[in-house]
Amino acid sequence: MGRFDGRVALITGAASGIGRATALRMASDGATIVGFDRDVAGLDTVAAEVHDTGGTMTTVTGDVSRRTDCVAAVDAAVTTHGRLDVLANIAGVVWAERVADTSEEGWNRMMEINVSGSFWCAQAALPHLIESHGNIVNIASNAGLMGQAYTVAYSTTKGAVVNMTRALAMEYVKEPVRINAVAPGGVNTPMSQNFDMPDDLDFSLMQPYMGFRKMADPNELANVIAFVASDEASRMHGAIVSVDGGLTAG
Ligand SMILES: NC(=O)c1ccc[n+]([C@@H]2O[C@H](COP(=O)([O-])OP(=O)(O)OC[C@H]3O[C@@H](n4cnc5c(N)ncnc54)[C@H](O)[C@@H]3O)[C@@H](O)[C@H]2O)c1
Repeated sequence: MGRFDGRVALITGAASGIGRATALRMASDGATIVGFDRDVAGLDTVAAEVHDTGGTMTTVTGDVSRRTDCVAAVDAAVTTHGRLDVLANIAGVVWAERVADTSEEGWNRMMEINVSGSFWCAQAALPHLIESHGNIVNIASNAGLMGQAYTVAYSTTKGAVVNMTRALAMEYVKEPVRINAVAPGGVNTPMSQNFDMPDDLDFSLMQPYMGFRKMADPNELANVIAFVASDEASRMHGAIVSVDGGLTAG
């Protein structure tokens, strides 16, 4: 028996990195996975990996920043599989830039994907999650718990994810649904591998968020996300779980 047997998990950002690892982890624990991402080829690859390990994963292609795509993804999960038990809001983007170089377009795009995307998916999923006594796991970041130079827009979005999680938890505190967030530090994924910093930056400003331990493996995040989404975490509601190797402890 797996801890997610008979349950359906909608995972945004499932085509890569932490989302991919979470899809594989939860599928191995019995969940039927619905992967939602804008990367069609990546989704197909992960779905094949899930199937190769004996699991089930269907896919929905779309952009989380569009409310209609989020509604369609939730509808697809419920129509295809009959229920929805877990929403893992993992899709996200990051780029670094100085405050002076931040464009209106870039600022708004980061907000739309990292903040609005999680909200639209949550809004669409909540009626189904209440029915199934399910839960939401949002992915924040250490950048949402501390100020980070050169990533002010990203830090702002992840701080918003932290407080969106708490505000959702309070509005639904009397309903049979749980809403929590996991806040990773550095994780070895395509996002961190492709992360470029501005030229001529002052490295001493980055010292507080460099940390003392090596980057996490995505599976180390998937393990915690799966735990928070499982019945083992039945008392957790409105929690922000740091998984950052001590980065925000000091
Ligand atoms: N990697 C890290 O060091 C790190 C640290 C803290 C937090 N995080 C957060 O973890 C989450 C996952 O990051 P990752 O490292 O796995 O990154 P990743 O780039 O490997 O994966 C992100 C996925 O999100 C998808 N995505 C991006 N924008 C989308 C959109 N508009 N609509 C649909 N899908 C979209 C991408 O196609 C990709 O598959 C993000 O929210 C990120 O901010 C990552």
